[in-house]
Amino acid sequence: MFWVTTLSLFLIGTLGRIIPHIEYSPLQYTPQGYTVANFTTYVDHYTTMPNTFNMRYFTKTLYYLNGGSKGPIFFYTGNEAPVESFMNNTGFIDYLAQSLNALVVYAEHRYFGQSLPFGGKSFQSPSYTKYLSPHQALADYAYLITYLKTKYNNAPVIVFGGSYGGMLSAWMRIKYPDLVLGAIAASAPIMAFNGTADPNGFNAIITRDYSIADTEKGASECTAYVATAFDYLYQVQGDLTTYYNLSMTFQTCDALITKGDVDELIGYIQSAFTYMAMTDYPYATNFLNPMPGHPVNVSCQAYADVNISDTWEVLQATFKAIGIYYNYTGTSTCNDIFGTQTGNLGSANGWDYLSCSTLNIPIGGIKQTSMFGNQPWNQQAENQYCQQTWGVTPQINYANIFYGTNVNPMIPLRDVSNIVFSNGGLDPWQFGSVTKSNNPNIIAFVMEGAAHHLDLRYPNPLDPPEVSAGRVTEQSAIEYWLGINQN
Ligand SMILES: *[C@@H]1O[C@H](CO)[C@@H](O)[C@H](O)[C@H]1NC(C)=O
Ligand SMILES: *[C@@H]1O[C@H](CO)[C@@H](O)[C@H](O)[C@H]1NC(C)=O
Ligand SMILES: *[C@@H]1O[C@H](CO)[C@@H](O)[C@H](O)[C@H]1NC(C)=O
Ligand SMILES: *[C@@H]1O[C@H](CO)[C@@H](O)[C@H](O)[C@H]1NC(C)=O
Ligand SMILES: *[C@@H]1O[C@H](CO)[C@@H](O)[C@H](O)[C@H]1NC(C)=O
Ligand SMILES: *[C@@H]1O[C@H](CO)[C@@H](O)[C@H](O)[C@H]1NC(C)=O
Ligand SMILES: *[C@@H]1O[C@H](CO)[C@@H](O)[C@H](O)[C@H]1NC(C)=O
Repeated sequence: MFWVTTLSLFLIGTLGRIIPHIEYSPLQYTPQGYTVANFTTYVDHYTTMPNTFNMRYFTKTLYYLNGGSKGPIFFYTGNEAPVESFMNNTGFIDYLAQSLNALVVYAEHRYFGQSLPFGGKSFQSPSYTKYLSPHQALADYAYLITYLKTKYNNAPVIVFGGSYGGMLSAWMRIKYPDLVLGAIAASAPIMAFNGTADPNGFNAIITRDYSIADTEKGASECTAYVATAFDYLYQVQGDLTTYYNLSMTFQTCDALITKGDVDELIGYIQSAFTYMAMTDYPYATNFLNPMPGHPVNVSCQAYADVNISDTWEVLQATFKAIGIYYNYTGTSTCNDIFGTQTGNLGSANGWDYLSCSTLNIPIGGIKQTSMFGNQPWNQQAENQYCQQTWGVTPQINYANIFYGTNVNPMIPLRDVSNIVFSNGGLDPWQFGSVTKSNNPNIIAFVMEGAAHHLDLRYPNPLDPPEVSAGRVTEQSAIEYWLGINQN
């Protein structure tokens, strides 16, 4: 999920690493009846080194026991945050478990939350961080699933995940088909890697989201205003005499002193627009920051009646627009452009390392389709950043080769079965996700009007009809895999 931890880098010529998953607390759904436990597993599944660590997982047995211990196991493959974030925001699993008498399990990804292989030292040196990878995490889940199947009647296992969690779910089915009967992979950009997607697609979708808002409530040409603001910011970046005014206009906590500081400001502004597009949910959510329903529309209102030829007026409106993301409650006293833009997620390190090693996702934009202007992906600058920060060079072809998703680009996933790939029509991560399938054993669809894995949230009356239909498709697929309700 997905934080724009270092989006600013992007602007000094390297690249933005945007965490695909997002966390927010739900207003509708509160997980209840879960029990926490530890599972002891190997730090390194690929040597005979005997070191172990405790990974956390939560289980809920109520529905399973109600069904006479005959139901399946629904297993959420945790991603890049404390696992409670996913319990809080994946109410659909609970909803579905109730009707299928499933045991629900949420596993915490190693190096996140409290599942730290080397405790507080886990991010302190390459010799500790090197066990943070999807294949190690998948092996953790394979051992945990084996244990759970032994404990619970050899129950069939369906895995679920959103965003990076959805990638893990799909890969879990691909790598461990004997342990996992099927996977629901929501907004899972498994094709976002080198050579499998157009890096410029990401910002193009964000820009399209904002252009849809154009026609709403009189905020005309929202994207033109944002583009004007970005043009001007890049233009004045070299002009020291504007820095004081920029600090004042954007109420930055610290004065802008260097060109690099202006990069940080630009990244901070871009993050707000990016996250509002990713989490453009139809009802109010309490993400990292509380936001209203349809934040894209709401932020565009800041430009209503603004004179687009008056650049400072446009910048002032931009300050208001990003306030929908950073300051919706009106309690922020200044914009901390050097701080993390992900709230107190505590997972920025882990994602940054993953994106520098196995999960290097090229993201960029071109002026023709991006309201943020030209921001080409620069692999060399990215490699330099990763070396400096973590002492590693991105393995850019890891996902394609390790999981076989790029074996035949004409028929992706030809030899794979029992995966549903759901996508949101508003979600920028679609650019690297599986949105259609010509393999009859793989279901893929795009839900109009939906942002990043809206379908995994607890059903809400404000959900677009395609999201409700998507959930029905997911349930039918699971029932088909389990061999129930078939006529
Ligand atoms: C899990 O293990 C950690 C230490 O690794 C410990 O602090 C924690 O209390 C344990 N939790 C449970 C539920 O046993
Ligand atoms: C999950 O939600 C509970 C309340 O329902 C809240 O106390 C907790 O802080 C949330 N945890 C995370 C990680 O979002
Ligand atoms: C990335 O993928 C492209 C297309 O498959 C390939 O030509 C290129 O060599 C790859 N880049 C690197 C650095 O391996
Ligand atoms: C806001 O945006 C969404 C998604 O683009 C759109 O479907 C909806 O009609 C808009 N609603 C309002 C009230 O502006
Ligand atoms: C818009 O701003 C431009 C540049 O500052 C100015 O010349 C023009 O008069 C303004 N238009 C209106 C309608 O205020
Ligand atoms: C400083 O910004 C204000 C709006 O915040 C604008 O009216 C003014 O023209 C700007 N001054 C300079 C010198 O750019
Ligand atoms: C936050 O909102 C309040 C209330 O509208 C406003 O007074 C304040 O200037 C805003 N601060 C920032 C940093 O946006």
